[in-house]
Formats: sequence, C-alpha cells, structure tokens
Amino acid sequence: MDATSTLTLTSPAAGAEDGKLGGALSRVDGPLKVCGQARYAADVHLPGLTHATLVQSRVAAGRIRSIDTQAAQAHPGVLLVMTPFNAPRLPEGGQAGIKPPAGRTLSLLQDDRVHYDGQPIAVVVAETLEASRQGARLLQVEYDQEPPQLDFEAAKAQAHPPKEAQGQEPDSRRGDVEAAWSQAAHRLEATYSTPLEHHNPLETHATLASWDGDQLTLWDSTQYVHGVKQTLSQRLGLQAEQVRVVSPFVGGAFGSKGSAWSHVVLAAMAAREVKRPVRLVVERTQMFGPVGNRPFTQQQFRLAADGGGQLTALEHRVHAETSRIEDWIEPSALISRFLYACDNVATTHRLVPLNVGVPTFQRAPGEATGSFALESAMDELAHQAGLDPLEFRRRNHSDFDAGQQLPYSSKSLLACYDQGAQAFGWSQRNPKPRATRRGDVLVGYGVATATYPAKRLASEARATLLPDGRVRVQCGTHDLGTGTWTLLTQVAADRLDLPPARIALEIGDTALPMAPVSGGSMTAASAGAAVHAVCELLRTHLAELAVTDEASPLHGVPHELIELREGRLRKTDEPGRGETLESLAARHADIDLQVNVRATPGPDAEKYSKHSFGAVFVEVHVDADLGEIRVPRIVAAYSVGNLLNAKTGRSQLLGGIVWGLSMALHEHSLRDPRYGRIANANLGEYHIPVNADIPDIELIIVPEDDPHIGPLGAKGIGEIGITGVAGAIANAVWHATGRRIRDLPISLDSLLHAQR
Ligand code: MOS
Repeated sequence: MDATSTLTLTSPAAGAEDGKLGGALSRVDGPLKVCGQARYAADVHLPGLTHATLVQSRVAAGRIRSIDTQAAQAHPGVLLVMTPFNAPRLPEGGQAGIKPPAGRTLSLLQDDRVHYDGQPIAVVVAETLEASRQGARLLQVEYDQEPPQLDFEAAKAQAHPPKEAQGQEPDSRRGDVEAAWSQAAHRLEATYSTPLEHHNPLETHATLASWDGDQLTLWDSTQYVHGVKQTLSQRLGLQAEQVRVVSPFVGGAFGSKGSAWSHVVLAAMAAREVKRPVRLVVERTQMFGPVGNRPFTQQQFRLAADGGGQLTALEHRVHAETSRIEDWIEPSALISRFLYACDNVATTHRLVPLNVGVPTFQRAPGEATGSFALESAMDELAHQAGLDPLEFRRRNHSDFDAGQQLPYSSKSLLACYDQGAQAFGWSQRNPKPRATRRGDVLVGYGVATATYPAKRLASEARATLLPDGRVRVQCGTHDLGTGTWTLLTQVAADRLDLPPARIALEIGDTALPMAPVSGGSMTAASAGAAVHAVCELLRTHLAELAVTDEASPLHGVPHELIELREGRLRKTDEPGRGETLESLAARHADIDLQVNVRATPGPDAEKYSKHSFGAVFVEVHVDADLGEIRVPRIVAAYSVGNLLNAKTGRSQLLGGIVWGLSMALHEHSLRDPRYGRIANANLGEYHIPVNADIPDIELIIVPEDDPHIGPLGAKGIGEIGITGVAGAIANAVWHATGRRIRDLPISLDSLLHAQR
C-alpha cells in the first residue's frame, strides 16, 4: 500500500514559542487547505475510479415488491445496479454485532423491508457521476406500502426505556420528589421540546473503497478510522488486517461521522462487485435521513423551591424519537442529575420509535437539548420566586455531584458567573419582563449555565527520531476541522522542546497506533495524553541511548543529569557537554529510535466527577411590532482546565456558541406527518445562521488547574460551547417580550402565537 496516503505536515513558519502548550499556534494544516492540497475523502483519485449514487426509499414503511433495473443497466456507462434482489449476501444478514461507538443497524440491501423514507435501497455504479445519477433516476421501484408510524403523541403510549443512556442508567431517583413537591413554596410544571435536526457539516459524508485482492482500503470521512475498520470487517466477514481506513482530513462531523453508516459498507460491496475503486459521496439532500440526526425531544419538568430559593424537587422526564430499527437515546436528563444542588431528583428517558432514520450523536448529545429545558425551567422558577435568575443559580450551585456521589475534579462555575456577569453588565438588567425598550425594539437579557463532561479514553502513540533530527509522531486519531493536527504538533513540540517545524505528525489512518473515536470532546485529552506520554518516553529513551553509547560525549553521565533542549541532549550542569539529535540518530537504526505507548486514564478517573462549566449571557432585541429576533451580543465565560491552543480552542468555543444560536432560532427539520419525508432537506430551507445572524461574541476563559484530569490538564472544548446558549436566548426572549417559548426553534410566528 502506498505510504503517501498519509500526509506529513509541518508548520515551517512557527517559532518555538507558538509551539508551547497554551500558545496560539496557527493551524499547521492551514497552508495545505488554503492551497487546495489537503485531500479529503472525495478528493482522492485512483486509476479506474468509478462513481456510485445511493438510491433511497420514497416510502416510509413496507416492502420493496420489485425494482426494474433494465433501463438503468442499459444506460451508457452504468456498470452495476445493486439492489436487495442481487446484492451479495453478508454474514449474519449484514447485522454482525458492532459498537463503534453505537450499535448501528445498517441498511445493506439484505432484505426487502423499508423502515423509513430515505432508507438506502440500491446503489448504482457508473463510469461517471452523471451516468450513475441518471441510472439511479431510471430505476422503477414498486412498493407494498404499509401505514408508517409517524405520530409521536400516538406512539408515546408504547414508549420504552433505553438499555442505557450514554453509559448511565436511563432512570434515576434520589430523595422523595412527591413529598418535596407537595410542600414547596414555588412550583413550576412545564413541557419543553427540541426539534428534529440534521447534521450539515460543510463536507458531506464521502467514502472511496478500493480492493486489492482481499485487501480493502477505504478513504472515508470519519471521526473514527478504527471504528470504520471494525464495522467493515465485521459486516463483510473479513479479518481486521484485511481492512485499512484512511482519513487525514474531515470537513466537519459533529457526531454524524462517529459511526460508519450504510453507504460506507455499500461502497465496499459495490467495489468488490465491479472490481474497481468506487467513490460514493452522500448528496446534501441525503444528509437528511440515512446518516443520523438529532431526534425530537419532549421534556417534562417539575421544578420546585422553598421560600429561600433553594431547589427542593426536580423531575425531568424525557421522551425522544428513535427509529423502528435501532434504539438511540438523546440523553437530555443526565445534566439534571448533578448540575444544581437538590435533594429530591427523579429523571427518566423513554424512546418513541417511529418510521424515521436512526438518530445519533449530535454536538453535545443530551446536554445541548437538556440544558435548553433545564435552564428555561430554572429561569421560570426564579421569576416565580422573585429572584434574579443568576442569583437563583448561585444559590443552587452544587459543590458535589450528588448524581454520581463524587466530588468534582475541579469546578470554577461561580467564577464563570461572576466574570461573565461583570463583562456583560448583568447588574443593569431590569428584573421586570417587557420593560426595557430601545426605540422599536424590546431588549432582553438572559443567562444560562453551560456544562459538558470531561472524558478520556485509552489511546496509543508512536514517536521516532528521524535522521534529520525531526521527530515523527504517529497516532490514529483525527482532525475533524477541530485543530488536532495543530494541537498534537504543539504537545510534541512542547514536550521535546523542539520548534513545531521539527515535528512530523501523522494521524487519520488505521495503519497508525490505535486511538479512540474523536467524539465526546475527548481527542485532546485522549490522543493528546498519548502523544504527551510517547514524547516523554522518547526523551528518556534517547538519553539512555546516549549515556550507554561509547561514541557519545554523554557516555557514562548519570541518566537523571541529561536534558533535551533545543534539539540537543546535554548534561544539566554542564550544558556545553552534549550532542545534537542528528548526531545521535546517525549512529542508530530507525527501530532503535522508536518508542510506543498506550496511555490510559489514571486511577483518579473513577474518583471524581469531571466536567467543564460555563456561563452564557445574551442580549436579544425583538422588534415590538414584527417579532423579529436579533441577538446583538453574547458574553460567555468558561472553565475548561488548560486551554491548550489559544487560537484553535477559541474557535471551538465560538463555533459551539454559533450552533447554540442556530439551535435556538434557526434549525428545524420539517417532516411530513403523512409520508415521513423531510420537506426541507436542503440548505435553502433548512436554516442555519449566516454571518449577519451572528453577533459580537466575547469569550472569557477562567483559568483553572485540574490535577485529576490527565497530564495536559485539559477538560475538552468541542461541545460545551453549544450548551446553555439556547436556554439563555429563550430566557432573554422572555425577558424582552414577556413571552415564554418552550419549543425550539423560537421563531417570529412562535412569538406571535405565544401567550403573554
Ligand atoms: Mo460529538 S456529538 O461526540 O462529535
């Protein structure tokens, strides 16, 4: 296999200082991307390349009676029409058990059943993309339709609990909610909902499958090369060694690319049939169905407080949509188990299966949707209790995670409240709703708490001193556009005291050491810890080589007196005595200059509750006559442990906030209640914010030292940014207008319909 499929990047312009942890090193992959030289999955070209089009069901339930493929097969350039009637049979009906990182039920043309509108039912492969699309159009599909279940309220009667909610019990209970509720001074009973949403990264899913005999290579847009490898080998009945997955660049993923969907396996099946490489790019409209979604949630709250504004009862009951073929839960109630101090808490999660595509992780799955509901409820109850909503949150601050019964590894939420409020000017807020006007606009201030768990999984890494004195660092992790290329370069440069240009990083390939899924905001903590550890080990190893080597000027020096500074090994108390890495490398073979590690979370991992926290403050302007909502200002303060890169880290947080605003005011997949088809499956009608929708965003990073979180002290920043934002905006809209919108997205018409 050609080794050039893994690109090596360096950042020639960067100086040593930028490369230190916490520095603002610019993206090392930036020049390649700007010059169009970064090859994404769909950019890879191979000799004999063919093009596949995914064909989707146009009914939501039933059976495929027949597919007439004659016209398609006769179309010039069409090489293969693969349907349930001729597709190769897979072991275990194509459903061999996998869990990377969810147990996906895929549609691999193994039977004639249809479970949702948009389900893959055929693949057409042709010499050109145009021919494959035309071939797909020429298919005549006959269905035996059955009435689909698309009515959430009706299906709720048969709702069932999931087996687990992201590793936790689906239900929780502590204290006595009923007793506390009946005695409370202030009570709120309210139902909130968040809509069906679809992931729309700039780069749609894409895969290129190529067989060389029994060896399969996939270039795939994925968050988890090792997971795709596992899925492919299990589903196709291959040995793991027969599959290699390559993914050096990903143009956004947000959870949808965390697991391999049907099209990836179908591309591999098709490539084996046509005996040529097959490229399958998921079209924009196809993003709305077979590759995951954030499911509709309905969240019922009972929240109560005593006369002193102390929470006494919290009940959070979640009903979420799922597909009829796979259970996937949006775990919205998990945050209610710990975020505020309350002795009596009950939470439940229930699944409502419908004839829809399988839901999946979408940026802060659970926390994004759950924090909208919880933070809205907190705001409503604060008003009832006559308390400032920020003061109400302070009074109910939790010093201890009562859900997990663990102390926090670190928590600086009170400082986030203080610094955010100060920068925002929260004290200027008039507590009375609909009381602040500026000309024709009603002005509202809103606040919410942000939170996301700090996770870490085991990861491996390898480091090799190269003859030219650079260090090659290898780790099978990914850069989803988040900055992993840059961050890992920085970790290595920092640990080895080398300029970033002397680090040759390789990521995004199963040929590299194992790394976990790049999801759950844990890549820096997981892969970063592995790179950190392997560089520490390399330093020790090189020192050992020098002191035991008679040809080295450091021969015989006690090991603990050797340091690595600016590309030179030297004696600590006699810096003139030493040698460069190049000179050491010249006397050794490659293999002697290489070290490997597997870095696992330490014993502290189980002893603490680990979360990032933040506070989001927003100002909204609502046109008093027209109901148009604008967000002119957001201030957000976060405590995330160490911020490892001041530039890419800031971008991550800003991106999360932008998505929070999008969730509050824009995004909504509209499903036809009769046919189950997404009516706005395009970026013209599925609204996301544009530059004019995004206000000035001020970020405050509250410094935080967390000794328990891992060697880098980083808690993760990929997802916390989206949390709390929708709640803060809903609260500000209420403050501006006196109207409480409990269903997202908040739109002009929802304001017009709302009761005062
Ligand atoms: Mo994230 S939803 O784990 O990419």
